[in-house]
Amino acid sequence: MNILVINGPNLNLLGKREPDIYGSETLDDIQSWLREQPEIAAMELHFFQSNHEGALIDVLHENMNWADGILINPGAFTHYSYAIRDAIAAVSIPTVEVHLSDIYKREDFRKISVIKPVCIKQICGLGKTGFLEGLKVLQNHLS
Ligand code: DQA
Repeated sequence: MNILVINGPNLNLLGKREPDIYGSETLDDIQSWLREQPEIAAMELHFFQSNHEGALIDVLHENMNWADGILINPGAFTHYSYAIRDAIAAVSIPTVEVHLSDIYKREDFRKISVIKPVCIKQICGLGKTGFLEGLKVLQNHLS
């Protein structure tokens, strides 16, 4: 099971970025932790992070014949990127949207996800555990 794990803008600053909201662990910490989780040991994880919308779209296209599933935290693109939404719909690969924070308990602009309608599930507010839960959703969905 090949899974593309995508993180969008500013998530490279995890650990430093608003730790009261996003926690003190870095993206590398979270990725290493995911690789150690026995429940998802059978999944081949390919991690990608970019601050650029086009790069996120390119990696979706480049992996459309490799990936069986996609886990994506689109960062702020969640709230307005129709281009990323269209790319997810175009590659037609089961996708789970994940957010570290609970976007429904923050500013109003965060309550809208244009990505959610093209995903099989949205998970938010669970911190790094949300990534693990999202991978488990994909695992169940794909097996
Ligand atoms: C986020 C929530 C977004 O609103 C924000 O722009 C992010 C991170 C999260 O993981 O909680 O960059 O996706």
